[in-house]
Parts: sequence; C-alpha cells; structure tokens
Amino acid sequence: MGMSRSFLVAFLGCLLLAVPIQAQDQSGFISIACGAPAGVNFTVPKTGLNYTSDANFINTGVSRTIVPELRDQFQRYVWNLRSFPEGKRNCYKINITRGSKYLIRASFLYGNYDGLNMLPQFDLLLGANRWRTVNINNASVSRDFEIIYVPSLDYVHICMVDTGLGTPFISAIELRSLRNDIYETEFGSLEKYIRRDLGSNKGYRYDDDVYDRYWSYDDADTWYDNVDKWRKLNFPIDADSLVQNKYQPPAVVMSTAVTPANVSAPLVISWEPDDPKESFYVYMHFTEIQVLAKNQTREFNITLNGKLWYENESPRYHSVNTIYSTSGISGKLINFSFVMTETSTLPPIINAIEIYRVKEFPQQDTYQGDVDAITTIKSVYGVTRDWQGDPCSPKDYLWEGLNCTYPVIDSPRIITLNLSSSGLSGKIDPSILNLTMLEKLDLSNNSLNGEVPDFLSQLQYLKILNLENNNLSGSIPSTLVEKSKEGSLSLSVGQNPYLCESGQCNFEKKQKNIVTLIVASISGALILLVAVAILWTLKRRKSKEKSTALMEVNDESEISRLQSTKKDDSLLQVKKQIYSYSDVLKITNNFNTIIGKGGFGTVYLGYIDDSPVAVKVLSPSSVNGFQQFQAEVKLLVKVHHKNLTSLIGYCNEGTNKALIYEYMANGNLQEHLSGKHSKSMFLSWEDRLRIAVDAALGLEYLQNGCKPPIIHRDVKSTNILLNEHFQAKLSDFGLSKAIPTDGESLVSTVLAGTPGYLDPHCHISSRLTQKSDVYSFGVVLLEIITNQPVMERNQEKGHIRERVRSLIEKGDIRAIVDSRLEGDYDINSAWKALEIAMACVSQNPNERPIMSEIAIELKETLAIEELARAKHCDANPRYLVEAVSVNVDTEFMPLAR
Ligand SMILES: *[C@@H]1O[C@H](CO)[C@@H](O)[C@H](O)[C@H]1NC(C)=O
Ligand SMILES: *[C@@H]1O[C@H](CO)[C@@H](O)[C@H](O)[C@H]1NC(C)=O
Ligand SMILES: *[C@@H]1O[C@H](CO)[C@@H](O)[C@H](O)[C@H]1NC(C)=O
Ligand SMILES: *[C@@H]1O[C@H](CO)[C@@H](O)[C@H](O)[C@H]1NC(C)=O
Ligand SMILES: *[C@@H]1O[C@H](CO)[C@@H](O)[C@H](O)[C@H]1NC(C)=O
Ligand SMILES: *[C@@H]1O[C@H](CO)[C@@H](O)[C@H](O)[C@H]1NC(C)=O
Ligand SMILES: *[C@@H]1O[C@H](CO)[C@@H](O)[C@H](O)[C@H]1NC(C)=O
Ligand SMILES: *[C@@H]1O[C@H](CO)[C@@H](O)[C@H](O)[C@H]1NC(C)=O
Ligand SMILES: *[C@@H]1O[C@H](CO)[C@@H](O)[C@H](O)[C@H]1NC(C)=O
Repeated sequence: MGMSRSFLVAFLGCLLLAVPIQAQDQSGFISIACGAPAGVNFTVPKTGLNYTSDANFINTGVSRTIVPELRDQFQRYVWNLRSFPEGKRNCYKINITRGSKYLIRASFLYGNYDGLNMLPQFDLLLGANRWRTVNINNASVSRDFEIIYVPSLDYVHICMVDTGLGTPFISAIELRSLRNDIYETEFGSLEKYIRRDLGSNKGYRYDDDVYDRYWSYDDADTWYDNVDKWRKLNFPIDADSLVQNKYQPPAVVMSTAVTPANVSAPLVISWEPDDPKESFYVYMHFTEIQVLAKNQTREFNITLNGKLWYENESPRYHSVNTIYSTSGISGKLINFSFVMTETSTLPPIINAIEIYRVKEFPQQDTYQGDVDAITTIKSVYGVTRDWQGDPCSPKDYLWEGLNCTYPVIDSPRIITLNLSSSGLSGKIDPSILNLTMLEKLDLSNNSLNGEVPDFLSQLQYLKILNLENNNLSGSIPSTLVEKSKEGSLSLSVGQNPYLCESGQCNFEKKQKNIVTLIVASISGALILLVAVAILWTLKRRKSKEKSTALMEVNDESEISRLQSTKKDDSLLQVKKQIYSYSDVLKITNNFNTIIGKGGFGTVYLGYIDDSPVAVKVLSPSSVNGFQQFQAEVKLLVKVHHKNLTSLIGYCNEGTNKALIYEYMANGNLQEHLSGKHSKSMFLSWEDRLRIAVDAALGLEYLQNGCKPPIIHRDVKSTNILLNEHFQAKLSDFGLSKAIPTDGESLVSTVLAGTPGYLDPHCHISSRLTQKSDVYSFGVVLLEIITNQPVMERNQEKGHIRERVRSLIEKGDIRAIVDSRLEGDYDINSAWKALEIAMACVSQNPNERPIMSEIAIELKETLAIEELARAKHCDANPRYLVEAVSVNVDTEFMPLAR
C-alpha cells in the first residue's frame, strides 16, 4: 500500500482495570522550590503537590525573592529562586533511580528579583550535556522547559552556566517518574515542543494528570494558523467512565476536542520547524465524546504532508486511543491533515496533541569511579575551586585542573589532576589511587605533610608526578624511585626539606634536589639508549630485507597492495561512523542474507553505496556479547592496518548493536583449507605462505604497532579472513586486550579463546602474554601446512602439534605437508615453514620467537618458494631437493641459523 508504518496506536483492550489508577500517588515525584529557606516544606493548595527547599541539593548560589506584586499571579513554589552571581557552572545534584524514565521540568521566573530589570540569558545543562539556552524575555512570565529523560547514573546534575549574558538563576525543578514503555524513541530524549488540550479554555496539570504534564489551551499562541478554522467541542467525561491507555491523558483534557468549522473541509494541524533537520515525535489522543446515532459514523484518514499516515481512525466512545510516531518526523513544513472518509457522516475530531523535539545527548557522563574519587578528593582537601557537575563534560566546562580522555564509546576518564598551589594540607589521600587512569599528578606548592605513600606506584599509567615544595618527609618509596630510574615516571620531589631517597636519609638540606637530578640524568641516558636500539634494529632489518633481490620484488607488490588499501582507508576514515538501527536495516535489506553465525549473533551481507559490507549483529541474549562488542569497537576505531579487518561503522542503539566491517569476499582461511570452497579456489602453497605472511604482519602490528600492545587472544584459522584478492586479514577482536606496558608484561585474566589454539602454558599459569598469540599463530601455521584438524579425537596424540612432531621424527616432509598439494611446493620452503610453526608452538613461551621475527622468516620462506617457482618456469627446470635435518628434541630456533 506504500504507507510507511511510522506510527503506532495505543488503546487498551477493554479493561479499565488494566491501568493502575494512581491519581493520588505522588511517589516518584520530586518537587524542589529553588531558593526557598532551608528546611521548609509546603503544599500548594491547588494541586496538593508538596515542595521542598533546594538546600539539600546544592551548596552554591544565593536565595532571592521575586517582587511582591507578582506573587498573586504565581504559586508559592516560584516565589523564591536561586541566583548564581559566582562561578561559571553551578549544579544541582538530585538522587533518582537510574534507568527509569523521568519527566524533568525546570522553571524560570525572573520577577525582577534583583531590581535591575535586566533579562538574563544563560545555558542549562542536563548531566554531561547542554540541554538548551534559557532566554528570559519577560520578567513576569514563567518559562518552563520539559524533557523526557532516562538518567544513566543514580543522580542527575542540572546546571546553570554563565555565558556572560546576565546572572543565571532557577525557580523550580520538578521530576516526575514515568512508565518506561511510553514516549519511546529510536534515540535521544524528548523535549516538549507543544502539549495542547485542544478545544479547551483552561490549562491542567496534577492532580488531573497523573504524570503532572502541563496541558495548555488554545490561547494567543501562533504555532498553527488554523485555529479560526476549528470549532470547539466540549462534552464533559467523568474520569471513572473513561477507558484509559498507558499514556493516560486526563479525562478533563479528553472532554474537549476540535473539529473543522467547515464540515466538508479537512482539519489541519501544521507547523514549520526552525530547522528542517529537527526531528519530532507526535502523540495524538482521540476519544469520541458525542453519542452517535445509529446512522452516524465518524471516520477519517490522517495524512502527513499529503501522504497517508494512518487510515480509518474512528474514535471510540469514552475510550482513549493514542496514535503516535515510532520514528522522528522532520521537514520544512510538517502538515497533518485529518480527512473524512467516504463512509463517514461526521467530520474528524482530535482531543489532544503532544509534540516533542528529539534532543540528542551524545556526551556520556564521566566514569563513576573517577567521579567518586574526585568528589572525595574535593571534600578531603576542601578544594574551593568551582568544581560542580560532571568533572569532564561538557568538554568546554571541564573542571579546572583536570584533563580527561573522551573515548568513542566509553565514559570520559580523568587523566590529569593538577592541584598545584591550592593550599592543600594534610597527607596525600589514598582516594587519588581510585583515579586509575591518571597520567599526570601535580600536587606541588602546597603544605602537604607526612610520607610519600607507596600506593602512588600502583597508578600504572602515571607518567608525571610532581610533589615539589611541600612539607613531605621520610624516604621516597623505592618503587617510585625505580620507576623513575626506568624512565617510566618523571618524578619531582624537590623543596621538601625532610624528604630523602630510601636508604640515604640523613636530612641534609643540600640533598634536597639530588633525587630529581639523578632521576633526570638517568632517564636521559635511558632515552638515548632506547633511541640507539631502535635505530640499530631498523638498520638491521633494512639490510636484511635488501639481502635478496626477491625480497624487493615482494616489497614492491606489498607497496602496491598498500596503495590499494590506502584508498580504502581514506574512504573508511571519512565513513567510519555511527549508524542508526534503521540504517542497519536498510544496509542489510532487512537482514536478508546471512553470511555467518557465532556465539555473539549473526553476520549479514549488506551494501553501503553499492559496496558490500559485513554486518555483525549482536544478539541481545548474548551474555558476553556486550562487553565483546565494546572491546571490539574500542579497539577497531584505534587500530588500522592492512592485515586487520577494518571497521566501517557501528550501531549502538539500546539493545540494537551492530558492527559494520569491510566485506571479505573469500570467507575464512579454515573454509579454504577444509575444501569447503570449490576446487577453483584451492590454495596453492604459495597462496598459503602469502596468507601466513599477511596474518603475521597483522599480529605483529597489534604487538608492536599499537600502544599499548594488544593481545588478540583468539587467533585461529576461522578468524583469518580473505578478501577478493586473497589478502588475509585478522578479525574478531572481541576478546582482545590491550596490555599496559611493554612486551614482557603478563596480564592476569580470565581464560578465553578456542581449545586447541590456547597456549598450554597459559592454561597452567592462567596468565596471558603476547607469546600466547604466537602459540595460536603456530597452530594456524601447522594447519596451513598440513591441512589437518587441530584436535583429533580418539587419538593418543590428539593435538596437531603432537601429531606433526611424531611425523617430523620420520624426516619425511611429504608425509606432513597437505597431500592435496600433490608435492607442488619447494621442499626447503616447506621445511622452513614447519620450523617456524614448531618454534611458535614450543611448550616454553621463552622459546617461541617474537612476531616480528616470525614475519621476517615467513617472508623469507615465501621468497624461497617464489625463487624455486621462477626456476621451475625456466626452460631447464632444476629441482633443489635437499632434506633439511631437524632435531625435534632440542628447541627450534629457525632464527639462529
Ligand atoms: C504532601 O503533604 C501532605 C500534608 O503534609 C501530606 O498529607 C501528604 O502525605 C504529602 N504527600 C506526599 C506524597 O508526601
Ligand atoms: C521536608 O521534606 C523532606 C522530603 O521531601 C523531608 O526529608 C524533610 O524531613 C521535610 N522537612 C520538614 C521540616 O518537614
Ligand atoms: C543522595 O544519595 C547519596 C548516596 O546514596 C547520599 O549520600 C546523599 O545524601 C543523597 N542526597 C540527598 C539529597 O538525598
Ligand atoms: C510580559 O507579560 C505580561 C503578562 O503576560 C504582559 O502583560 C506584558 O505586556 C509583557 N511584557 C512585555 C514587555 O512583553
Ligand atoms: C468548505 O470546504 C469545502 C471543501 O474544502 C469548500 O469547497 C467550501 O467552499 C468550503 N465552504 C466554506 C463556506 O468555506
Ligand atoms: C439519521 O436518522 C435521524 C432519525 O433517526 C434523521 O433525522 C437524520 O436525518 C438521519 N441522518 C442521516 C445523515 O441520515
Ligand atoms: C482513506 O484511506 C483508505 C485506505 O487507504 C482509502 O481507501 C480511502 O480512499 C481514503 N479516504 C480518503 C478520503 O482519503
Ligand atoms: C588535555 O589533554 C589533551 C590531549 O592529551 C591535550 O591536547 C590538552 O592540551 C590537555 N589540556 C590541558 C589543559 O592540559
Ligand atoms: C576506591 O574505590 C573503592 C570501590 O571501587 C572504594 O571501596 C574505596 O573506598 C575507594 N577508596 C577511596 C580511598 O576512595
């Protein structure tokens, strides 16, 4: 029919009982009268709502009162207000239930409280995001802003920001808890645009409305031009006789309606958004209020900008029917027309309408652990800075002395704390330790005393620690001194008269700067050493790669490959982005083609601008899925390499989570080895070596090209994907972990990965190193060489490593290499590949080569094969069949030749 289902209908079967009647229930209501004297509670007679003073929710600002003349016109809860002449940002912190839906209303009545008659303008923040600008344009008119919002923390911050256009203030804050299944959006929160009791001459709120929504009436507002074309209807409905739905519009609101003045003309409701990109959600409430005769019907279609939006609406007598949008509506003009159908004898009616504007709040709140820690620090030292609201967000209002990182998906984290010259006294507080991502800590020029605590060395990312010019005493913990000697920490402890390096305490004043000096010179020397080492390694590699002509050819082909991917990369950089769930539906053509399945969910084929993509959709039931999703997005937005699958974008809308990757036309390595693909796709020995080199380069990049290095943790042949040119790329980073420092570090972690590929040493120690990936890679190499299953059941030597080992003893390479290659490979390259593989799967991690060595060795293996092939194509083929003897019992060190 071509009608898009962009609306839904809410009406309750028949049962009045199905809706809990909560008319008198005020639980879930928080009503704050800002600026009212502390300890004062009062009830507003008209509504019965109880208001409380704001004293428990804020520590700053001053309490003021509107001019007495205005009091008669307003209820008591806006007689006072809190004004903020000091500080850029002042915040209320209100405890709520996280994950629940709230209607939040902020009210502003200037009322010439300061006698200046200067109408201010300032910003209003909700949590970490800017909600809107508050623009007071009439001293004696209250401005109320409403938003429907789901807080992610146990509290919300509501902040006023001084933007230099007058002193910010606020009169009242009201929070009303709503059911979670109403006013749902695809994304974002809903800010009230219009809420209108059509046909009424009066406004309503609690306790007519159980949610205390404000219903206004048709006054001088000009949001539509159609008022004069309407006729008002009023047939009072008793609240008890109205069958409600979950939106629960009040009976008194539903008692009035509008209908076209000209019975044969349509009823039109239209408005012109300020910005055509703005997105709106509309909720229309209907009920029949007239008793219709037998020969009468009322039925109409609703069109949106001329297109049929909802057909054959026929309001039922005293029963609420709500028709609402399920996705945002936008445009230069939004025009709803209600058109009588052919069979209808009566014109259309509508009783009430709500229009909301989508407000996106992209910035996440700062990580709760950091917020708690910095709040403790603030109170321990009585920090007098203007520290209010979210510490890191919005970025423009970052707390003075802090610096944060803003990860794409995760919460912001505090990485710098600078409390220099802040009049701090007392000891260094352990709450600092809870700022776990801290990189710089500056406590210099204060009056801190006591010892330098050992715990500071537990801050594993700390790079700069400045404790200069305090009254610290005792010896500097050796752990810190060691770190600074290693060069991983820049430590400044000068001008602390009673401080000394451990073991050398004799409190001579002369010594006070020695530590810093030693530290500085040592780290200087270290940097030089490292630089020399790097240069040397580079040079060595270069000369090694130049050693054979073939190597260069190989490099060239690599360069051309790199160029081709570079093109892709630039595309990706532009396109890497967040997709909405509806985009995902479009891209995958409603999940039309499945190309893979896993524990996390399903992978679908999709198209973006005619280019194929793979869309991995997380199944909501996948328990670990969410964490793996986050891990993968976090990692992939950072890493970029031709041998790692690229992320094009992702979707993260509530439970709808999807990752969009470049499409790998030739599936995974395992499929090709197992012969799942047709014979024409059969992988030659040369192909296999190339794939091995590619995969090794991908892994090498994770280990050496990433800071901090990354352990893949799930290297296996099904995670090595092949594109249309059979270029291999590592995929599936869901289990990957970044490790904090250099390659030697061990990470204690829960075991994860795939049996058979999992490092046996890691089984024993339950610790994971980069060498675990090397082991897994070795297993993949063995698969590539032998085309045998990794685990063979019902065999004594079940693991591929053991099976190959026993064959090596017989010294017959042809018994080991995949028989389907029919001997079409160079024996030397086969032996060399086998050596590398066996070295990788050494029991002892220390005997396994590192990834960069493996990559170089594999490239050489490929070069040998290519050379042999080139000779093979000569007119006089000459085979160099030379068995290389391998001693199985001693360690395999292919590099030590
Ligand atoms: C509001 O205040 C009145 C009078 O003190 C009291 O009877 C009523 O229980 C209060 N309501 C709530 C929900 O606190
Ligand atoms: C005012 O109300 C709050 C809760 O709304 C309550 O905690 C406080 O004790 C009340 N104060 C007085 C003086 O009644
Ligand atoms: C909000 O909750 C916190 C933590 O539960 C508590 O310490 C604080 O007193 C509460 N604030 C108010 C105003 O109730
Ligand atoms: C402010 O609002 C009041 C009440 O609505 C109105 O009488 C007055 O004219 C308005 N003042 C201005 C300057 O618009
Ligand atoms: C009523 O509406 C019909 C259809 O739009 C139109 O033809 C007619 O002229 C209108 N009558 C009046 C009095 O405006
Ligand atoms: C409906 O029936 C009533 C009598 O019951 C009659 O007066 C009226 O004209 C009829 N209306 C229509 C539209 O047929
Ligand atoms: C109302 O919608 C129905 C169903 O699409 C259609 O058949 C009918 O023509 C429409 N009526 C009007 C007046 O647009
Ligand atoms: C905060 O960190 C960012 C990124 O590290 C840096 O560019 C910026 O200069 C820092 N800002 C301050 C105030 O230190
Ligand atoms: C650090 O955080 C933990 C909870 O993660 C908390 O139990 C502890 O009290 C905090 N320590 C300090 C000193 O704030």
